[in-house]
Amino acid sequence: MLANLSSIKEEIINFNIDNKDSLEQFRIKFLSKKGIIPQLFESFKNVEPAQKKEYGVLINELKVAANEKLETFSNQFDTTEQSIGQSDLSLPANSMPLGSRHPISIIKNEICAIFSKLGYVISEGPEIEDDWHVFGALNFAPDHPARDMQDTFFVNKKEELLLRTHTSSVQIRIMEKTQPPIRILMPGRVFRNEAISARAHCVFHQIEGLYIDENVSFADLKQNLLFFARELFGSQTKIRLRPSYFPFTEPSAEMDVSCSICGGKGCNICKYSGWLEVLGCGMVHPNVLENCKIDSKKYTGFAFGMGIERIVMLKYQIKDLRLYFESDLRFLKQFTSAY
Ligand code: DAH
Repeated sequence: MLANLSSIKEEIINFNIDNKDSLEQFRIKFLSKKGIIPQLFESFKNVEPAQKKEYGVLINELKVAANEKLETFSNQFDTTEQSIGQSDLSLPANSMPLGSRHPISIIKNEICAIFSKLGYVISEGPEIEDDWHVFGALNFAPDHPARDMQDTFFVNKKEELLLRTHTSSVQIRIMEKTQPPIRILMPGRVFRNEAISARAHCVFHQIEGLYIDENVSFADLKQNLLFFARELFGSQTKIRLRPSYFPFTEPSAEMDVSCSICGGKGCNICKYSGWLEVLGCGMVHPNVLENCKIDSKKYTGFAFGMGIERIVMLKYQIKDLRLYFESDLRFLKQFTSAY
């Protein structure tokens, strides 16, 4: 009887299964109600008591071996059948959910791409700075209010290290180690000690531009900015420069662009003035050049700086700055199609 069991085991192992029919034959032969293995269990009661233990172990082994073989082959035929029989190869592949760029990054990249057409190169500098690079070298008077704790985050108690309040500090870093010609664009994050509201935040983004060479004039500045405004807001865009004051430029100006929403006729975005203020600019102050060991008799240049959030607000008509920082997918998903 026991010898019989080992030949059944051989049979199970050698049974050739190569399609669904032979799989079914295998199941019927060994595992169906009237199949060999259930029959062996049936005959267990007739086995002599001395052999019961060994017999029991062996018929269990047969059962496990037959079930395993059945399972392996049924999986195989199921998946092959599915992939051959049910799939339509002309269907589009399952789409993968794609993320989207943040609107700040989209506009930053767009501005960088516009200025790179004019030969500007991207430069970056540290966010933790010292007084010299953020204020001193930029010609801020020692008692200028920007140096106050009210406006600036200091990193250490001695007020030696601070979070940069503007990207103009990167101008200094570059001019200290590079002689003209210099033509750079400096995007980055800046920090100011402001209460958070729909129109102000303590962290925001700026892009700074700097062009230093022999014979650079205010006309060059104006032409660069006009090109930029038309690329970003459309070819019909007009610009105007209003006199202003910054310690590091002389003369200084603020640039407005004609409102891209109403085309200058007046709407609630431009507060019915027809103009939108977008950036500050001017001719680099000779003191700033000299602070960086650049000969101000030989070289002149211009600088400009703008807040990216503000431009994004104007381009996409976003009314609340806080949306940029909330990671709300309902907001972010609206930018999937932009690059
Ligand atoms: N740094 C100025 C600010 O944060 C912006 C600015 C104005 C930058 C005039 C410039 C400039 O380079 O020429 O408000």
